[in-house]
Amino acid sequence: MQEKKFYLETYGCQMNEADSELVSGILQQTGYKLTDTPAEAHLILVNSCSVRENADKRALARLSQFKSLKRRKPDLLLGLMGCVAQRDKGKVLAELPYIDLVIGPDSYRNLTNLISQKNVPAVDVRLSRTETYSELVPSRKTKVNAWVSIMRGCDKFCSFCIVPLVRGRERSRPPASIIDEVRRAVDQGYKEVTLLGQNVNAYHHSEWRFPDLLQAVATTTGIQRVRFTSPHPSDFDLKTLTVIRDNRQICRHLHLPLQAGSSAVLKRMNRNYTQQDYLETVARIREYIPSVAISTDIIVGFPGETEADFEETLKVMELVQFDAAFMFKYSIRPGTKAAQFVDDVPDAVKGQRLKTIITLQKKHTLTRNTALIGSNQTILIEGVSRKNPEEPIGRTDSNKLVVVKNAKCAVGEIMPVQIIKATGVTLFGKIT
Ligand code: 5AD
Ligand code: SF4
Repeated sequence: MQEKKFYLETYGCQMNEADSELVSGILQQTGYKLTDTPAEAHLILVNSCSVRENADKRALARLSQFKSLKRRKPDLLLGLMGCVAQRDKGKVLAELPYIDLVIGPDSYRNLTNLISQKNVPAVDVRLSRTETYSELVPSRKTKVNAWVSIMRGCDKFCSFCIVPLVRGRERSRPPASIIDEVRRAVDQGYKEVTLLGQNVNAYHHSEWRFPDLLQAVATTTGIQRVRFTSPHPSDFDLKTLTVIRDNRQICRHLHLPLQAGSSAVLKRMNRNYTQQDYLETVARIREYIPSVAISTDIIVGFPGETEADFEETLKVMELVQFDAAFMFKYSIRPGTKAAQFVDDVPDAVKGQRLKTIITLQKKHTLTRNTALIGSNQTILIEGVSRKNPEEPIGRTDSNKLVVVKNAKCAVGEIMPVQIIKATGVTLFGKIT
């Protein structure tokens, strides 16, 4: 019998990357082989993201490009996975009849059942209150960092955000299964794990809270580096800070989404903290972990954001001096609370505000990076520089990319370097 192959492309957040690795594991267990050539595949899957406008268009546009392959290979199956699948459900099959499978984020266990030819076209978008894919074995893409999903869904309902609608209610995976997975990753040679959750510090399972899990992963698995993303500022407790401070395996980098600087806008966003709360959280974090790098997410042009509100965002950026930021223009996500507000900031103004914060952030990143010149860091080598394949690149535990000059290092090695130069994007270092 001819060997069946699958091709899988992923858009969106790290959670989607981790889900794709689970799906890849499921398919390989049933005898499918992974290919990176779509034309060779019997099954093409696109794991989609619906968090902002544009991201969702990309997945569907990509699937339409594969349509022509079906003419040559009539039994080719095209599947849409993930958050757009969940949001658009049966509408996808009605509008794009060349798609065979629409499969939401809680239905991946059912995938092999559906692709046994008889069951397509099919839509499976049941959201679950319990699914955590606990005992599934992922097939990982890289050899450096292992994504380990510890909870799914989100109960925060920020008014702009579609995640609670497409990924369902919050649920946490049993600690023993997480710790087992990290141990297995260590046995396979992984030096770093990233604990993932839509709202990672809301983790709770029986008596276990997030800091308990973090501590157990850092101290009982033999892993050398632990990261986690993304925490919610209002769930950031002192115990978590103490655990990070006391365990050097936990990386000195926190991604702490700000979203907006104005307390009035934060209230309409349903973020549960004020500007002052956020600044106090940052101050406490820096008091406990002075060398920490902090990155963030910022939205401009949320409904009702005045010039004065926007200036509050600039003020917080100036006060905090983030190491890095992902910055977005607000876009309406139908079905969310904010979709009921008037999207009254003109697109040109959103564009102008976005440009302003990008320029400011570049300045701050450069300042923060320049301050590291002369310092000693350890980096985990993850590949080679795109500009010069002779130069290895690796990440500091504060998550900054370092290009290594005049040295050969293997992927997965942890190396001591001294920083010799900094730009707004990368650092340059030499092995010490
Ligand atoms: N418009 C713009 N940005 C958004 N994000 C989430 N929803 C929206 C939206 N409707 C951003 C937030 C979040 C990041 C993942 O995407 O900043 O933290
Ligand atoms: Fe969305 Fe807010 Fe939940 Fe993050 S915390 S996934 S922004 S609802």
